[in-house]
Amino acid sequence: MKLFVDTGDIEEVKKAASWGILDGVTTNPTLIAKTGKGFKETVLKICEAVPNGEISAEVVATDYDTMLKEALEVSSWHPNIVVKVPLIEPGISLVKTLSDKGIKTNVTLVFTVSQALLAAKAGATFISNFVGRVDDLSEDGMLAVADSVEMVRTYGFKSQILVASVRHPLHVVQGVQAGAHIATMPLKILEMLFKHPLTDAGLKRFLDDWNAAGLHILE
Ligand code: E4P
Repeated sequence: MKLFVDTGDIEEVKKAASWGILDGVTTNPTLIAKTGKGFKETVLKICEAVPNGEISAEVVATDYDTMLKEALEVSSWHPNIVVKVPLIEPGISLVKTLSDKGIKTNVTLVFTVSQALLAAKAGATFISNFVGRVDDLSEDGMLAVADSVEMVRTYGFKSQILVASVRHPLHVVQGVQAGAHIATMPLKILEMLFKHPLTDAGLKRFLDDWNAAGLHILE
């Protein structure tokens, strides 16, 4: 499973990249607006911080012609940019156009397997299935992820199912169990994946015993 960090904050991206296990970064208009900096400048800094990563940058127009212009502009900034496109009618037409041109896309704001089917048929590279926002409505957001993973496998679509709107580590575990290809999450959640009290307690005991015996590795 690929791990992406979901942020526009360059310091957060650098921290996640420092572990050497980061596969990409997702941004959205809200996250970019939160940075208080320019879109292109922020996205380019992210591309530099994660040299081999897949970096999603979202178009904001809602009509096909302007969406296409924005998509071509954004994708011209760096070869690792994936154009993020909302699941609306002109968005699906755009994904088909971009896919035919070999430009990678991430279809966002996907909540159902029927929406995922449209994105897969259009040739989406990634399909961002939001779970947390569905859980917030007392529904199980992960059900659509599992169904969409099954759907792309059954029909041989090349699209990868990306678990988005991740709110806690259990969403990552459930994404793994569903066979999702990618999970994107805030830095705070990536950091939580490291944590286990038995790891901390176990390390403390190892080091206490080692130090009490006066041992060294480096002389
Ligand atoms: C994904 O690409 C989205 O940017 C993100 O996961 C949305 O998460 P939220 O529902 O916590 O805003």
